[in-house]
Amino acid sequence: MDAARPRVLSGMQPTADSFHLGNLLGALRHWVALQDDHDAFYCVVDLHAITVPHDPATLRRRTRVAAAQYLAAGIDPDRSTLFVQSHVPQHTELGWILQCLTGMGEAGRMTQYKDKAQKGGGDAASVGLFAYPILQAADILIYHADRVPVGEDQRQHLELTRDLAQRFNARFGETFTVPEPHIVRTTGKILDLQEPTAKMSKSSPSGVIDLLEDPASIAKKIRRAVTDTDATVRADAENKPGVTNLLTIHSALSGRSVAELEEAYAGKGYGDFKADVADVVVGALAPLQERYRRWIEDPEALDTILAAGAERARSVAAATMVDVRDRVGFLAAKG
Ligand code: TRP
Repeated sequence: MDAARPRVLSGMQPTADSFHLGNLLGALRHWVALQDDHDAFYCVVDLHAITVPHDPATLRRRTRVAAAQYLAAGIDPDRSTLFVQSHVPQHTELGWILQCLTGMGEAGRMTQYKDKAQKGGGDAASVGLFAYPILQAADILIYHADRVPVGEDQRQHLELTRDLAQRFNARFGETFTVPEPHIVRTTGKILDLQEPTAKMSKSSPSGVIDLLEDPASIAKKIRRAVTDTDATVRADAENKPGVTNLLTIHSALSGRSVAELEEAYAGKGYGDFKADVADVVVGALAPLQERYRRWIEDPEALDTILAAGAERARSVAAATMVDVRDRVGFLAAKG
């Protein structure tokens, strides 16, 4: 851990029994690459996962499942700080202070909140869901992260984070680094296999490929992926979103360019193409699945890694909070 390298922080919620291909290609793969030249902090954001109704045993299981997938994807706990958000109570403490700097209207404008609150039936939305982006700001600011690798859908939360950092600094003195969003755009968006205009998401079981899914099921979903009647393997996001999505997936995992693939499949049908996409996906996920199995079958080892990560994270977070408490004007406890 070299202090001169820029710091990155990111996290995902432990709200599924597996991450999916969109999470791997849109987030995890970039996180892994960033480790080479960044001081990286990656957390499993379990505090965020309770902003909607949840089952305790399921959350606990999924927190390990998420961490094991981070490791399986290549997050290296010797180079990066890998931890569980709730193991570092300072996130919640800073979250409260930042809530007191956030306007009701400002928080109410967050589109992810508005979407989720609407889906949850309006009144059913919790105050925690409302405060979600402010806790996210605390996750980032408490480590003085320089960059935050996230998808386009998180841009508004990053803007709020920057606003809160600047507001705190202006009101109480220079304290927080104002982070830059690092919007991941290198691969095209990974879309739903059944509805290739929507982002791949866990809410659409037949359109999503899970990282931990068995090979037969992956092949079946790809075989059934929606295409078109044009019958040429060619990228055209507007008119051929399904085929384009499969090309994006193939290219991202095989390392071959879309142009090269178009040439290779000229004159061939969708059947051959889909069979090859399935082989590429299954082949790419096999070693990840094998590494995942080793971690999940050894919860002792996994928990030991998470404990070390939490300790490292806590030491940074605690130091930040010493400054924050002082600047805000809290009386230091006699000690
Ligand atoms: N809101 C993010 C998402 O849904 C998850 C998240 C929580 C996060 N805290 C974070 C991402 C801090 C980056 C940094 O993807």
